[in-house]
Amino acid sequence: AEPGWTETTDVVVVGSGIAGLTAALYLREQGLHVTVVTKVNIDDGSTRWAQGGIAAVLDPLDTPQAHAYDTEIAGVGLCDPAAVRVLVEEGPARIRELIRRGAEFDRNPDGSLMLTREGGHRADRIVHAGGDATGAEVQRALHEAVRRDPWIRLVEHALVLDLLRAADGRACGLTLHVLGEGSEDGVGAILARAVVLATGGMGQIFSSTTNPSVSTGDGVALALRAGAEVTDVEFVQFHPTSFVTARADSVQRPLISEALRGEGAHLVDESGERFMLGQHELAELAPRDVVAKGIYRVLRATGADHVYLDARHLGEEFLEGRFPTIMASTRAAGVDPATDLIPVAPAAHYASGGVRTDLHGRTSIPGLYACGEVACTGVHGANRLASNSLLEGLVFARRIADDIARELPEQAEPARAAATGPSWVADPAIRAELQRAMTRGAGVLRSADSLDTAAKELTRLAEQRSTPNTAAWEVTNLLTVAATLVASARSRRETRGCHWREDHPNAADEWRGHLLNAVGADGYL
Ligand code: SIN
Repeated sequence: AEPGWTETTDVVVVGSGIAGLTAALYLREQGLHVTVVTKVNIDDGSTRWAQGGIAAVLDPLDTPQAHAYDTEIAGVGLCDPAAVRVLVEEGPARIRELIRRGAEFDRNPDGSLMLTREGGHRADRIVHAGGDATGAEVQRALHEAVRRDPWIRLVEHALVLDLLRAADGRACGLTLHVLGEGSEDGVGAILARAVVLATGGMGQIFSSTTNPSVSTGDGVALALRAGAEVTDVEFVQFHPTSFVTARADSVQRPLISEALRGEGAHLVDESGERFMLGQHELAELAPRDVVAKGIYRVLRATGADHVYLDARHLGEEFLEGRFPTIMASTRAAGVDPATDLIPVAPAAHYASGGVRTDLHGRTSIPGLYACGEVACTGVHGANRLASNSLLEGLVFARRIADDIARELPEQAEPARAAATGPSWVADPAIRAELQRAMTRGAGVLRSADSLDTAAKELTRLAEQRSTPNTAAWEVTNLLTVAATLVASARSRRETRGCHWREDHPNAADEWRGHLLNAVGADGYL
């Protein structure tokens, strides 16, 4: 059907976390009109849940080369060195600009920025805010800056559906569903001279994730349907330490920041033994994939569903001052880190892959950009380094705004009548079953057998169709990205970074490359 309403702007940005809002603010500095569309409310994305901080070279004794080295070691041979160089060299200036926009980071008594360390870093280079509430402070500052600007139009409760393209193939807008807007079904179109995807991640394809419920891979699914290049989707990072006594009915688990280990907390098993000692020179602060695997081995050996984090020796006063978010979420569940061990287990945390971009955030479709977790810029490789994700959003948002301002064409008309969403829609009732199938078959540990089973279950679940509505479109996107992940994970017959194949336990040189993903004409694999 035709969209029920149409609006026009210079640039439409999809998503309202650090990547989307930062892109909008830089685009405004270029004098462009911007519309930000976001699926629920402006603050509902992943950014506000970020705890640890933002990594950047801010200590005079640290160097961009050292930050690049740690990033590339974590990425296990799949980082793009040019993209990493951009990230580490431009990061410090982007953080200073964020501070000028109003974000307040924790400081030492002498006024300098307080820097901490997380897994995989060999220097203290992580700025944080409110102790362990970095994302909340960043989101607050960006939200206020966006609200102050009358030329940024914000459309909330808007689920993006599909990309619109002009006769020459260029992106010229998108279709979306806005609750309560225009025609009865609320489906409309925003025409724009450039489109920026900043839709975040896809953690909701698994049963336990640190991601909020909105992280359903909408941008990657849109890009796949549009035929944009999508890559590295098999590399989903599992954060080693999510809090396991979280409410059983919630897919989102509270994060126990790696910064807690950075400040000295230890991982121990049932018998109190520090099992990461001897597994890696950095022990508990090894890159995330190494620590998640170390935990998973203990879980498999003992049959337990968690190990423990021991932070008791850090003392109540320090813990309350430095980690107020963690103290509140654990205490609310009856666990006091000052006196108790904290039960933790890995949970899906971050999509290292996504919509492939160049160094200016350009995707393979002219006029379509991708920024933040939805993108695959090449900085994360097979496993993202801690606290590089907020940084990536900041750095590439600026590059995207600069690129759009340099090359903005006139508004083009969509080449054909706008489609209103995927050609089929899944049944929202399958969401939990899909998450269980993915956790069993394509979670931390994978094999040809487990992935085959997951693929079959996804195909069966995709046969249950429904009529279009927001929940159904979301589950359709979950299915699309889940099937894409399973296809890549089946193809990649090696273990590398956060992709762990039980049946191919080593990294293999012939796999030191990237898999490109595609969907069929019906939007499914
Ligand atoms: C954390 O605080 O452990 C998360 C940081 C990150 O995901 O980079």
